Amino acid sequence: MKVYHVPSYDVMSQKAANLISAQIILYPQSVLGLATGSTPIGVYERLVDKHNNGELDCGGLTTFNLDEYCGLSEDDPQSYHYFMKSHLFSKVNINKEKIHLPDASAKDIEKECKRYDSQIEACGIDLQLLGIGNNGHIGFNEPGAVFEGDTHCVDLDESTILANARFFDDPNDVPRKAVTMGMKSIMLAKRILLVANGEAKRAILEKSLYGPITPLVPASILQLHPDLTVVWSD
Ligand code: PGA
Repeated sequence: MKVYHVPSYDVMSQKAANLISAQIILYPQSVLGLATGSTPIGVYERLVDKHNNGELDCGGLTTFNLDEYCGLSEDDPQSYHYFMKSHLFSKVNINKEKIHLPDASAKDIEKECKRYDSQIEACGIDLQLLGIGNNGHIGFNEPGAVFEGDTHCVDLDESTILANARFFDDPNDVPRKAVTMGMKSIMLAKRILLVANGEAKRAILEKSLYGPITPLVPASILQLHPDLTVVWSD
């Protein structure tokens, strides 16, 4: 595990964007696992800057996102489809056919989860970008009795709903359910890059990286990954 403790959100964003760019430049056909949330916004901004400066060609990339809320349409500004479009996909030359997010509005969610897993399995993720929730979740893999391997539908933790209420005008509008990539796809990624920002993440990050490996702290499973990089600013 490599941990970069950096002095600011800007440096965290730049460092993570540099690591992702290096992956893309070395392997233009890379498969990236992507994350949403407030933390990676700066990373995406830097990637867009690099693209605009002619340093980054995203034309060969395939992407898989970690998760999506149930009950929101793709065009809903609170959906993760919308987030990805506005922060990255509409701003770089990515092939729209190679962008994948789970369809959390599918009628048959179980079938959709299986479909998503088989798509990921067929491609294999080269580099997975992750944020971390205050409760240690990665994607929307919430603390629980077991590490869930497959893509699945999840009841969001009260703490997650509370944390994400800041993005919604009315906290009652925060969806209660989501579809998330499971631990298997995350752990099978060749490389994992976790970004975290703010003093509030210090305790959960320490628990995750150095505490016991337990599904009660979902990110603790990352200790078992052979190529984990953490970029953290407090
Ligand atoms: P945040 O969310 O980046 O908005 O803190 C991280 C997460 O919940 O995974």
